[in-house]
Amino acid sequence: MKKVKMLYEGKGKRLYTTEEKGILIAEFKDDLTAFNAEKKGSEQGKGALNCKISSLLFELLEKNGFKTHYIKRLDTQNILCKQVDIIPIEVVSRNVATGSLSKRLGIKEGSVLPFGLVEFYYKDDALGDPIINDEHCKILGITQDQEELDFLRTQAKKINAFLKDFFAAKHLRLIDFKLEFGRDGEGNIILADEISPDSCRFWDMDTNEKLDKDRFRQDLGNLKLAYEEVLRRITN
Ligand code: TMP
Ligand code: ASP
Repeated sequence: MKKVKMLYEGKGKRLYTTEEKGILIAEFKDDLTAFNAEKKGSEQGKGALNCKISSLLFELLEKNGFKTHYIKRLDTQNILCKQVDIIPIEVVSRNVATGSLSKRLGIKEGSVLPFGLVEFYYKDDALGDPIINDEHCKILGITQDQEELDFLRTQAKKINAFLKDFFAAKHLRLIDFKLEFGRDGEGNIILADEISPDSCRFWDMDTNEKLDKDRFRQDLGNLKLAYEEVLRRITN
């Protein structure tokens, strides 16, 4: 399958049409952004690492009954996926307080939450992706009904339960992560985008060392080593 035309360029990926209608190629970029792209960087090889990690995780989810846009990995930097209309909600699951949750509510960084929290953020760069609730979603016309919102929340909780156990077996704590969903040609809501150390937080089980994009956000260095370590552990 070959790239025909660039459809869209996001912060972490480029999407291309192919000769086949409804089938896209997603190319993972080496670019890094944080804080709504106020901070920018790049790390050679990061795109390939995310492509591999995300492909492995989507294959795992598919194998376990979750419907996703993923078809297959084409090469180091590119995957084949189904075209979807992205629902403009960043669905964030959290197991441990950190990041914007700690900042917003004053919950101590590292506190284990009593249950897996799911939050919705409105995917709108100009507005800085504000947190929203179900009623905001309906007022904004993002989803058709409560059932869809319930479905997103339930999927996020199920995926969290599944991935949390998977990563724990790899000696990684899944702290939090962001999912995006889209509507396919038949109107089904399926998981889309990527799952990688750009969109998740992973801490080492023993030392709580950060093995994700916080290394870039917080200038901790050794970003590629951390992503390589995540890949090494999940392939073992
Ligand atoms: P936050 O603590 O900054 O709200 O991030 C929560 C999780 O969501 C974290 O794993 C990083 C991920 N995330 C994204 O993938 N994209 C984003 O734009 C933001 C803000 C967070
Ligand atoms: N991905 C977002 C951005 O670029 C924010 C983040 O992940 O921190 O700006």
